[in-house]
Amino acid sequence: NGTGIRVAAVGDIDEGEALKVPADTTGHGDAIAVFHDGGAYYALDDTCSHGQASLSEGWIEDGEVECPLHSARFCLKSGEPQCMPATLPQRTHRVDVRDGAIWLHPG
Ligand code: FES
Repeated sequence: NGTGIRVAAVGDIDEGEALKVPADTTGHGDAIAVFHDGGAYYALDDTCSHGQASLSEGWIEDGEVECPLHSARFCLKSGEPQCMPATLPQRTHRVDVRDGAIWLHPG
């Protein structure tokens, strides 16, 4: 719907951190990771396209997240892999900030 899912209050996700939104909340079949980087928020499917790792547990820097398992990096904006071993992109989702909260729009 147009409202989105309220996942956190502004301030609850620190810069350089991520929040894992579970699949039963996203209604999407997969958990979604919401990232805070460079003062903006981004959302990608949480499960790495290469394996069974959670990108919300990855390292976030310079607009990318590094998978905690085999260190593939994904662009937070496009979901495109930036290096091996991942070759497939992560699905991206829209996030907006409204009324002091962070809203996720699972695509
Ligand atoms: Fe993410 Fe292998 S599971 S790079």
